[in-house]
Amino acid sequence: MKLEQIQAAESRLLLPTYERNPILMVGGEGVHLIDENGTRYLDLLSGIGVNALGYGHPAIEDAIIEQSRKLIHTSNLFFHEGQAELALRLTNAAGLDRAFFCNSGTEAWEAALKIARAYAGMLRSQGQSIGTKFLALEGSFHGRTMGSVATTYKEKYREPFAPVMPGVEFVRFNDVADLREKFSSDVCAILVEAIQGEGGIRPLSQEFLDAARTLTRSTGALLIIDEIQAGFGRTGKWLAYQHYGITPDITTIAKPLAGGLPLGAMLCTEEVARAIHPGMHGTTFGGGPLACAVALAVFDTIEQEGLLEHIESVGEHFRAGLEDLRARHSIITDVRGIGLMLAVELESAELAKAAFASMTARQILINRTSETVLRFLPPYVLGVEDVDEAIRALDEVLTSIGPAQLVAAAHTGGKIGD
Ligand SMILES: Cc1ncc(COP(=O)(O)O)c(C=O)c1O
Repeated sequence: MKLEQIQAAESRLLLPTYERNPILMVGGEGVHLIDENGTRYLDLLSGIGVNALGYGHPAIEDAIIEQSRKLIHTSNLFFHEGQAELALRLTNAAGLDRAFFCNSGTEAWEAALKIARAYAGMLRSQGQSIGTKFLALEGSFHGRTMGSVATTYKEKYREPFAPVMPGVEFVRFNDVADLREKFSSDVCAILVEAIQGEGGIRPLSQEFLDAARTLTRSTGALLIIDEIQAGFGRTGKWLAYQHYGITPDITTIAKPLAGGLPLGAMLCTEEVARAIHPGMHGTTFGGGPLACAVALAVFDTIEQEGLLEHIESVGEHFRAGLEDLRARHSIITDVRGIGLMLAVELESAELAKAAFASMTARQILINRTSETVLRFLPPYVLGVEDVDEAIRALDEVLTSIGPAQLVAAAHTGGKIGD
């Protein structure tokens, strides 16, 4: 089928959850996606932070071929070779003790919410006074299932599905006084992203994260850090919270974990894991042999190719290029992020739409989030020359944006939504 036929069929047959860009992708190579006409796009979005090793990486292809010939699925009623090995590698990387595997970010986050409630229940049964309330942050995004969406800030994600899970209060972003005021023994967990992704690549302040850690320790409440977008290497460390010298009680990882296959993980301390017993939580597909084998191959590749160090240096180069653009283009109001999780904020949503549309027309894929923010989540294997190409293009785009581009982009400029 051609693009137009697919568009027509999808518009009749699919739930209209996303407004897709009108490009039919058929392949990929390295950091490039390839469309039906053979046009190559420099991919600075990597499937919203998923394709960590880019496209066609031999480590991923080999792992898929080898494991799919052996075993694809067993259910969690039997042992297979992958889960314990992957749990060992991830818990070591995260400074935590135990893992639960699932299929997506939102499932990892649901597991975190459930275990936090179960842990508080266990403490109450031991005579401790602790409630069931969650404190989440303004600007947060934790997923779209009923629990996750209840802890996600923007009303457009929550309101149509009301009533969502009760017992969530939002704290102003990086406002320590507001956090202190809203925290009490009613709270079972504080929920944060170390760097908000969908919220516009906004890092927490050291002071805020320190305060959250100290407050939770004072009552037995848990600190839960969502690393679904920032984690597993994207910022140049395995977990973004490692930039802060803080370890949470629970963290969640997903997007890049299996290099494009669906896999999520919730990691927690031994103490928190005491709250879960067989039968309380589970999944049919989660942590299957194929996804685990591929995740181990991604893990090996990140280590063997020195990708954390590469992310740090190529990320610094990228950020320096963006800072340079900011110095020359007054419509850039901010540059944020670390490693290969970067963003520029523009003066208006209209400008951001026009910039997105012009970059796409130049075959460079980025996306727009929180209306005014251009977000970059490229594959970890991005080269310095790719960054230079992107910066040159953005420079030209920002120089040439005028009334005509603003009007043209009004309806096409960058679809919002993770
Ligand atoms: C920080 C964060 N948490 C949770 C999610 C939800 O992940 P998924 O879409 O895999 O359910 C996302 C997705 O963008 C995310 O960025």
